[in-house]
Amino acid sequence: MPAMTPAPPLLEARALGVRSPGRRFRAEPVELLRGVDLCVQQGQSLAVVGESGAGKTTLVRALLRLVRPSAGQVLVGGQDLAILSPQELREQRRLIQVVFQDPLASLNPALDVLTLVADPLRPGLRSPLTAALRERVVEQLSAVGLGSQYLSRRAGQLSGGQAQRVAIARALIAEPAMLICDEPVSALDLALRAQVLQLLAHLRHTRNLALLLVTHDLHAARLLCEHTLVLRRGAVVEQGATAALLTNPAADYTRALVGAMLSVDPGRAGSRSVS
Ligand SMILES: Nc1ncnc2c1ncn2[C@@H]1O[C@H](COP(=O)(O)OP(=O)(O)OP(=O)(O)O)[C@@H](O)[C@H]1O
Ligand SMILES: [Mg+2]
Repeated sequence: MPAMTPAPPLLEARALGVRSPGRRFRAEPVELLRGVDLCVQQGQSLAVVGESGAGKTTLVRALLRLVRPSAGQVLVGGQDLAILSPQELREQRRLIQVVFQDPLASLNPALDVLTLVADPLRPGLRSPLTAALRERVVEQLSAVGLGSQYLSRRAGQLSGGQAQRVAIARALIAEPAMLICDEPVSALDLALRAQVLQLLAHLRHTRNLALLLVTHDLHAARLLCEHTLVLRRGAVVEQGATAALLTNPAADYTRALVGAMLSVDPGRAGSRSVS
């Protein structure tokens, strides 16, 4: 009898590399990412931490295939994104949705919330906004704590916190298996940060969503992610269970990062505990 093969990871990167495009004034393209391995199973969560310029957003872009890797592979459900047809790539993109750092910059300010949230389910902006579609938008808005009075509000008329909730509703409407959030709360003020992080934690558990969270905030990593990966100068320094990595970092770099990140957290001034 053949052995049972385990389900492939939802998202996997193998020896992923990204180079900056060569420039006329720069003879050699720069390696922005080198040899990055990561793996997220269905329902699991991974925090990606590292100082500014470490390559976190570059990694997100490569995982979403918004940038072409110069080396290695990205696999979604065991399928290499590089060899998918455009139609297959579209389906894989539905599975993994993204929420960016600045909600007001990532949403077209001229469009209303109904149009923005319904967008992933419509083949084009001219396709009809049916009653059924509107109903689904209302459901998603309710899941992120916004009432139907927001449907006709333009993105430009939303607060930062409301706009990030709309961005999350839009990411959820296609019923993805995973969210990738690149610093989803760093553009928000402190009170709103906690609310949006709690919302993500709630959605994760109620929908069994996998999550890749890019963050500067190790408290957010600890709240939301079982695993953490530390990136420095485009390479992985270490990765492992979040609790173990925070209390007992293997690398000096991680130890310094943990110290710096926890000591500058303005929401928990004075608290250096990482238990
Ligand atoms: N298209 C590009 N061409 C050249 N260099 C780039 C390009 N995109 C990013 N970089 C460089 O790659 C490095 C990593 O950038 P990236 O945006 O991934 O960092 P990050 O970890 O997300 O930082 P932050 O925490 O500030 O968002 C930076 O030094 C950046 O200047
Ligand atoms: Mg970034």
